[in-house]
Amino acid sequence: MWEQVQETIKFIINKTGFKPEYGIILGSGLGGFAEDLEIEHMLPYNEIPNFPVSTVEGHKGALLFGTVGGKKVVAMQGRFHYYEGYSMKEVTFPVRVMKFLGVQKLVVSNASGGVNPFYKVGDIVLIYDHINMMPEHPLRGKNDERFGPRFVNMSEPYSRKMISRAKELALNLNIEVKDGIYLGLQGPTFETLSEYRMVKVLGADCVGMSTVPEVIVAKHMDMEVFGISVITDMGDEDNIDEVNHQEVLQAAQNAEPKVRELIKELIIKY
Ligand code: HPA
Repeated sequence: MWEQVQETIKFIINKTGFKPEYGIILGSGLGGFAEDLEIEHMLPYNEIPNFPVSTVEGHKGALLFGTVGGKKVVAMQGRFHYYEGYSMKEVTFPVRVMKFLGVQKLVVSNASGGVNPFYKVGDIVLIYDHINMMPEHPLRGKNDERFGPRFVNMSEPYSRKMISRAKELALNLNIEVKDGIYLGLQGPTFETLSEYRMVKVLGADCVGMSTVPEVIVAKHMDMEVFGISVITDMGDEDNIDEVNHQEVLQAAQNAEPKVRELIKELIIKY
């Protein structure tokens, strides 16, 4: 994997000469952040050596290189999900690449189902911790010390400093934010009512199918991480309304302008 990462960054540096400070993974319905970037280079995933090959026909995915208020950013437009069939090593490969392009701070976004009764659809949640319930661990196997240590400290996966700065900025922008614990499941099914109850009993506030592996790998490489989630549906054991993908995308899109504004401010002012 070390050699693969080196080959990939060599290719990217040759093509772009770009040295980003921030990495950002654009989740469901939040892809519009690309419009806030002054894009200098775009590399479709299928042109990048060693990048996972998309399983979905016509699935667009690209690395975008650009600036936001002068800050250099590399953005993943489209991420790789475990449920699509990728291994955890593949899901997290782009994070490895980002690190060796120079990224120190990673911003991760997603859509999730809320189980905290004080949440509502459209809420923006700053993730302050996670519970990993995914069936495969991205760090399983022989450890390569050049990436990071065998045993990774996870006492602060999400930067408290970034969270508190984001809260200040949100207040100034008049954007309401909540905070919470994200639980990662493999999907692709949405949760049964009993599973939503399980998520709640386990101590999480929201549940989704991404983010956890990328954050683990970012911490393995000692990156500072900021995670943000849009509540797109409520997993409520007394509410038998079914969740569907369309509804999730719609709710994420409605919250998108606020999330974009907040992330932009954070990148510029942190
Ligand atoms: N469950 C899991 N993943 C999700 C959900 C959900 O309710 N909403 C958006 N992503």
